Amino acid sequence: MKVLVIGRGGREHAIVHKVALSKHNPTIYAAPGNAGMNANLVNINEEDKEALLKFALEEKIDLTIVGPEASLATGIVDLFTENGLRIFGPKKNAAIIEGSKKFAKDLMKKYNIPTAKYESFDDFDSAKAYLDKIGAPIVIKYDGLAAGKGVVVALNYDDALAALKDMLLDNKYGKANVVMEEYLEGPEFSLMAFVNGKNVYPMVLAQDHKRAYDNDLGPNTGGMGAYSPVSLITDEDLDFAIKEIMNKTAEAMVLENRSFLGVLYGGLMKTKNGVKVIEFNARFGDPETEVVLPRLESDIIDVINDLIDEKEVTLKWSKEKTLGVVMASIGYPNDYKKGFEIKGVDPNDTIYHMGTAIKDGKLVTNGGRVLLVVGKGSTMKEAQENAYQKVSKIECENLFYRKDIGYQVIK
Ligand code: AMP
Ligand code: GLY
Repeated sequence: MKVLVIGRGGREHAIVHKVALSKHNPTIYAAPGNAGMNANLVNINEEDKEALLKFALEEKIDLTIVGPEASLATGIVDLFTENGLRIFGPKKNAAIIEGSKKFAKDLMKKYNIPTAKYESFDDFDSAKAYLDKIGAPIVIKYDGLAAGKGVVVALNYDDALAALKDMLLDNKYGKANVVMEEYLEGPEFSLMAFVNGKNVYPMVLAQDHKRAYDNDLGPNTGGMGAYSPVSLITDEDLDFAIKEIMNKTAEAMVLENRSFLGVLYGGLMKTKNGVKVIEFNARFGDPETEVVLPRLESDIIDVINDLIDEKEVTLKWSKEKTLGVVMASIGYPNDYKKGFEIKGVDPNDTIYHMGTAIKDGKLVTNGGRVLLVVGKGSTMKEAQENAYQKVSKIECENLFYRKDIGYQVIK
């Protein structure tokens, strides 16, 4: 059978890796893919749905798996489905749960799904009046895709006002609403689930590290590392999150005629008043996928096909702990240079490429986040040691990484 994976990052590399282990012995294509993948690379952009459709029809692709949200937002799933192709991901009207913060917040309010209190605004004056009333700390979210930069956690009034100015006066990311929400505190964790309509099959938990530097300092990033499972979260918390958040949200989407097929990602926080939703994504998380999929023992093609066919899905997980360290270009998440040679990437190690290229036969840096190195062990400490030992073999003059991935659970 032929499988097409859409995307080019570490998440898609982890998906390709898992697909390659399938007993169905698939021929794998990746569009556009990356230099680390053991797949046929197809030079088509993730967002070019017409070209992807043409390719999939011509090649008679049996199953397409969509990685990035930007692809989903084009409506690629609708297009493939209308053309009789099998594709895994939500349709455009369901992917909106990630694309619009306001949609997600309104849905949670309507169906009583626990989340921070909020108001949304489309003009600066009313937003400022609300800020004057509530004060800081407060969280300000741009209601659209802003490449991970649309959320400002403002600990003081001036930062909050500056964010409102950027978003509502200067239209820095385009013209859209802002959501202003209650500031919550507590450890965050990610719960991803395979979902089709009301059927929800949760994956094992992971935790992402969003800040650039050790001790959670520095700017927010797309994620600097992750680990799985998350021992901070009790079985009771997990039970609550599955029933009161994931199941209820899947049902709510069905009731809204936006039935969801794909991976629903809950970005959750364990607050002193219980587990609450920080955000939903409509796809596999990155870098969570890179530490969660290596623990999946079931055949991913069976899982996805059974889900699509509404058969009972069985997920088997290894007890092994995984921990992933992101190696990023110096300067990331702000400006950085590309093209530095990377040596010492051992093909026997689980290393996912996030932003690399081959230049003159050499592996070079080609993005902000460059590699994700996965360590494994029977304890999280062992997994951490294993990951950093692999990191130490990699030589490149323009990479940095956090040295404390997993610190919340490793004493
Ligand atoms: P989001 O893109 O919505 O996940 O937000 C990015 C990050 O901002 C989250 O991972 C949190 O660390 C932080 N954040 C978002 N909403 C809140 C909130 N209501 N209270 C505190 N921190 C938040
Ligand atoms: N790790 C956060 C995300 O995938 O959006």
